[in-house]
Amino acid sequence: MKIFIQNLPKAELHLHIEGTFEPELMFKIAQRNQIKLPYNSVEELAKAYHFNCLQDFLDIYYQGAGVLLFEQDFYDLTYSYLTKCMAQNVRHTEIMFDPQTHTDRGVSFETVISGISRAIEDAQKNFGITSFLIMSFLRHLSEEEAFKTLAQSLPFKHKIKAVGLDSSEKGNPPSKFKNVFRAAVLEGYIPLAHAGEEGNADYVWEAIDLLGIKRIDHGNNSLQDEKLVTEIIKRNLALTVCPLSNLALKVVNDLKNHPLKKMIDLGLKVTINSDDPAYFGGQVNQNYESIQEALNLTKEDLYQLAKNSFEYSLLDEATKQKNLIELEEYYKLNS
Ligand code: ADE
Ligand code: ZN
Repeated sequence: MKIFIQNLPKAELHLHIEGTFEPELMFKIAQRNQIKLPYNSVEELAKAYHFNCLQDFLDIYYQGAGVLLFEQDFYDLTYSYLTKCMAQNVRHTEIMFDPQTHTDRGVSFETVISGISRAIEDAQKNFGITSFLIMSFLRHLSEEEAFKTLAQSLPFKHKIKAVGLDSSEKGNPPSKFKNVFRAAVLEGYIPLAHAGEEGNADYVWEAIDLLGIKRIDHGNNSLQDEKLVTEIIKRNLALTVCPLSNLALKVVNDLKNHPLKKMIDLGLKVTINSDDPAYFGGQVNQNYESIQEALNLTKEDLYQLAKNSFEYSLLDEATKQKNLIELEEYYKLNS
């Protein structure tokens, strides 16, 4: 199974570039930028990665992102992630970035997007990996602030495919952002959002009805509501599931109790993703491996998950087909 997963062609549709920041690189960049981290070593930092909920994690995640200052920092962060993609047979990725985490510290939008984009271009040239960018609004901030970010993004619109919604879910429902999402869609961005990670099924309803999202990030709590499940299937929306994230943030108490198999059995379309791999103990392939083992998934299940990752990506039809053909050939030879 490990080898089957390793060589399986796949796309990753849910990861935060700031969440790929490995402790080693964080220390290196902090040193380069003469910023003192509140930890004395890589080991001490890694030891702080124990979370009881989403907010516990976010506090540490924003602190880590605070050492990113220059274009080269964003380049190094992104290129490091894409190098790991190459090693895992990830053919396509849809990368979320949180501009406000940086612009609120005085780093320009241009610095952030230039570094990330340059790494994406190099990875496409060097590894043949395609990437899209998802600009995510921080939901603990106001809609007015999200509007400012939307305005800052417009000169770089050609580099950004979609908008997302992330950060502290509880108390910050999708309805808070309905105007800015409407404006973003008018600008040509595809609407996506985290929903039903810690928030309940009502938040998923709002995300699909008020924001009109085309894919649901996490979506675990959709299972609380049968009518919602039926509606998600009817609208053909996929859930980007992140098993090791769910375990680390105590969305599930054990991977054996993870709802992924139940989602599949209900007819929901799901994909496997790493979310914030540097913090949750595994890249995308480790997520496939851990959930396969916990739920006894078959090769056919894994093939279907990888197939969904291309089918529910934002790729154009021709590129989707090219990837799907390659995946099918792989499956025929290795099943
Ligand atoms: N930002 C980074 N990871 C996140 C997650 N799992 N949920 C919400 N916001 C996030
Ligand atoms: Zn996420």
